[in-house]
Amino acid sequence: MDLTVYRNSFLSFLKEKATFKEPATLYNPIHYILELGGKRIRPLLTLMSVDAFGKDYKQGLNAALAVEVFHNFTLLHDDIMDDAPLRRGKATVHEKWDVNTAILSGDAMMILANQYLEVYEGDTYKKLMKLFQQTALEVCEGQQHDMDFENRNDVSISEYIEMIRLKTSVLVAAALKMGAIIADASEQDAEAMYQYGLNLGLAFQLQDDYLDAFGDPETFGKQVGGDIIENKKTFLYLKALENLEGDDQEQLLSLFTKPQDDLELKVKIAKELFIKSLAVNRIQQEIKDYTQKAFDVLKDVSISESTKENLIAFGHYLMGRKV
Ligand code: IPE
Ligand code: IPE
Ligand code: MG
Ligand code: MG
Ligand code: MG
Repeated sequence: MDLTVYRNSFLSFLKEKATFKEPATLYNPIHYILELGGKRIRPLLTLMSVDAFGKDYKQGLNAALAVEVFHNFTLLHDDIMDDAPLRRGKATVHEKWDVNTAILSGDAMMILANQYLEVYEGDTYKKLMKLFQQTALEVCEGQQHDMDFENRNDVSISEYIEMIRLKTSVLVAAALKMGAIIADASEQDAEAMYQYGLNLGLAFQLQDDYLDAFGDPETFGKQVGGDIIENKKTFLYLKALENLEGDDQEQLLSLFTKPQDDLELKVKIAKELFIKSLAVNRIQQEIKDYTQKAFDVLKDVSISESTKENLIAFGHYLMGRKV
């Protein structure tokens, strides 16, 4: 099925459900972030997954909404934690309103996300809730690792991969598995969809890290160089540090450990070192490899060939994205 069918269906469902009342200072920011758009990849995956296992994809709409609202909640809090000024080309909620507002509106979104799942019943509800709560907790764990890593200079690449698995991949994976649960897929198939999502999610976060440094400021929608400014231990940084030697290595280390007056210059030099060290080439390869791993998992899932082709096309679309 054409992805625009899922997207349009999700967007009209969102419009219908995302009508909030008083107090406006709690709900306006929620409306604002949800209406700013975004790629909607997680809800699309939920709907695709329901469809893949032969149920009407519309049965996945509430779960898709839960996942998307949860994702947007994490963005409100993440933007506070990352001191980010821009999101989807507009001011972040804590900039447009204030930090307290972004905290509480975020909390409310987390609760709303749980409420959207209440339409499911019995065993389905129980399985969905269990997965959703576990996922939410893991996202918190990943976020805390991400923050802790800012102040460490001995982070390994395997620690980094575990951190992005938690902060990003598990939600992508859960979005797919929730679709499988709603469609009563076998445990084995549901788990395979989860593994597809985990690998796709790793590729997705690697790409996010790449775009954070090398995206086009005109179209990216977030502050380019934000991760460098915040001393994020991304794959680009870790690989560059590993590959560089002598003065170059020292300079990169110093940029990320000593306070910098000129942040524009910091971003510029860090990017040059990411290129010089071939970390940029390496991240492209990693993105391809994890995407291929995601595709390999699909071989064993009992879904139609045309659905597999859709999921593969989706992986290619994510690899080619610029935002
Ligand atoms: C941003 O997610 C946060 C990450 C996990 C990288 P998306 O890139 O899916 O953000 P939107 O929803 O499309 O704006
Ligand atoms: C995203 O990490 C993780 C979560 C939002 C949970 P980032 O901090 O890289 O996401 P962006 O780049 O701000 O969207
Ligand atoms: Mg961020
Ligand atoms: Mg972050
Ligand atoms: Mg990012």
